[in-house]
Amino acid sequence: MNNSPLLQATALCKSYRSGLDTITVLKNVDLSVQPGEMSAIVGASGSGKTTLLQILGTLDQADAGRLSFRGLELTGKSEPQLAGHRNAHVGFIFQFHHLLPEFSALENVMMPGLINGRPQAALKKKALDLLDRVGLGERVQHRSGQLSGGEQQRVALARALVMDPALLLADEPTGNLDAASGQRVFALLRELSENLGLAVIMVTHNMELAASMDRCLTLADGNLR
Ligand SMILES: Nc1ncnc2c1ncn2[C@@H]1O[C@H](COP(=O)(O)OP(=O)(O)O)[C@@H](O)[C@H]1O
Ligand SMILES: [Mg+2]
Repeated sequence: MNNSPLLQATALCKSYRSGLDTITVLKNVDLSVQPGEMSAIVGASGSGKTTLLQILGTLDQADAGRLSFRGLELTGKSEPQLAGHRNAHVGFIFQFHHLLPEFSALENVMMPGLINGRPQAALKKKALDLLDRVGLGERVQHRSGQLSGGEQQRVALARALVMDPALLLADEPTGNLDAASGQRVFALLRELSENLGLAVIMVTHNMELAASMDRCLTLADGNLR
């Protein structure tokens, strides 16, 4: 088990039916991710990138194929078991970041830890540190609804990291970021991957960013290469 990859997806298939048509989004997709590995996924709009990330994160189910984490099978697990897996090991950043607009940046970042009953003082320290590292040290008390789109994305990143996930799944997290903020986010992720073994799978349209990851995979016609 210790030699197992962090995440192993084997022959994932996914189709959607709309009316009489069936759209095949994933055709036998294989993916193996090692601890600390940073992977970019690129592909045209509608090619299935979000679908793939949701399946890799157990938020959606493949029609066929298998998924395992550190050698443990996730396929066929109950929803409470999968929720436990996600809580313990996976951080998500969605295209629509789902921050709570009436809560401060700090409260939003602390939220996953509050829900999981983490001790507050340590949680707050961690959240403040992460906000500082994404360049929002001066904005921690701002209501998230008052922050710019790029600032909100960085809050969402800090929130995704606050529980120390082993795997970060990010769906176009730098879409609204200027170049400097994008660089800062990338530097933080690289540091976490090198020092803590955080594995990152990031969907992006930023080819420069994709090229600076450990590998760049393209999703096209249901195949990941
Ligand atoms: N819940 C759904 N029901 C039906 N079709 C869907 C659903 N989700 C996604 N699709 C379709 O699957 C394809 C892939 O979508 P998506 O994974 O969002 O692609 P991407 O993130 O690469 O833009 C698209 O054609 C989309 O319309
Ligand atoms: Mg998408």
